[in-house]
Amino acid sequence: MAYDATDRLLLDAASHYVSPGTRTAVIGDRYGALTLGALSGLGVEHVRVHQDLYTGRLALQRNAKATDMEGRFTSHEFGRELLDGAQLVLLQLPKSLAELEEIADAVARYAAPDAVLLAGGRVKHMSVGMNAVLERFFGTVQPQLARHKSRILLARDPQQPAGTPPFPLVAFLPELGLTVKAHGAVFSGVRLDIGTRYLLTFLDRMPPVSRVVDLGCGTGILAAMYSRRNPAARVIATDQSAAAVASAKETIAANGLRERIEVVHDDAMSKLAAGGADLILLNPPFHIGAGVHAGAAVKMFEAAARVLAPGGELWTVYNSHLQYRAALERLIGPTTEIGRNPKFTVTRSQRVAVPASAGVPYHSDRT
Ligand SMILES: C[S@@+](CC[C@H](N)C(=O)[O-])C[C@H]1O[C@@H](n2cnc3c(N)ncnc32)[C@H](O)[C@@H]1O
Repeated sequence: MAYDATDRLLLDAASHYVSPGTRTAVIGDRYGALTLGALSGLGVEHVRVHQDLYTGRLALQRNAKATDMEGRFTSHEFGRELLDGAQLVLLQLPKSLAELEEIADAVARYAAPDAVLLAGGRVKHMSVGMNAVLERFFGTVQPQLARHKSRILLARDPQQPAGTPPFPLVAFLPELGLTVKAHGAVFSGVRLDIGTRYLLTFLDRMPPVSRVVDLGCGTGILAAMYSRRNPAARVIATDQSAAAVASAKETIAANGLRERIEVVHDDAMSKLAAGGADLILLNPPFHIGAGVHAGAAVKMFEAAARVLAPGGELWTVYNSHLQYRAALERLIGPTTEIGRNPKFTVTRSQRVAVPASAGVPYHSDRT
């Protein structure tokens, strides 16, 4: 199983705070190393775990099966059930301060009064802003010595926050007439991304079809706007991030669109049948860590090629310098530039090859 230096450091530090009955929660476990390490190496009896990424959840299940530890942990969506009465919380520090704020608030709100939070990360990805966020929710925050380029922040003495939880954030976007809800980890928060804004200027030119996917939906803005314009369409909004899925569900409910849009936690539409969609809308991810990385976007194009029906269309927006056109032509089919402004390009790619027989179901049997 894949361990990183932060996982090891967290498990070593945790050994000072556990006995078999310690109520333990894990947040941000990449492949299961923290959860399974706590169960096997620390002698903890049971772990509650939350993982944002769909692929992380699959990896934990696989690794638990391989090590015979199924049934010794429970997976939870983020919230009270995950943290209620927890005495020890192990956290792989998230990328954004908003995500850390949502986590710190929930730990301080729901965990035991004597709870200890061990938050670890790679030193190069940590900032003093993280200490500042934790200090708002904990009486004591102590950075520990770094080891193998990882460091732990030890937070204790949680301060019960007053009022209702700060997340999801809620905003009304007047230019769209849409209410947006966003959890801490979701792309762009409650703001309208400028690439998404540009793609939406072509909404009236998108085909009015019946089976539509908002791929990598984030807060679900594209799904909501398409559905409003095309009330008869059945729209699926899907994302690999649980925070995005929760945000999109809440955005869709806030705008009265629950009957028309289904939200699915998944990796690159793996649960959708080949040839089952007439239109896919995509603002692909382009940042992996600090660099610009095309692999994540290409994976989305390959998925679109599989899921589009013959004649179906992929509408994509991307930073013009990324030059995705060749990949779109190769993987999907004839690609037309619909618009270009100083920053972004919008393209329409049509699926020509016949990937499956006509009339395939929208969902496959796989779950
Ligand atoms: C640039 S954001 C766009 C979000 C939203 N559609 C918008 O326009 O504001 C890209 C989204 O793709 C999601 N994503 C990245 N890789 C994915 C994958 N393999 N499967 C599903 N979603 C993915 C990310 O979590 C993120 O929410």
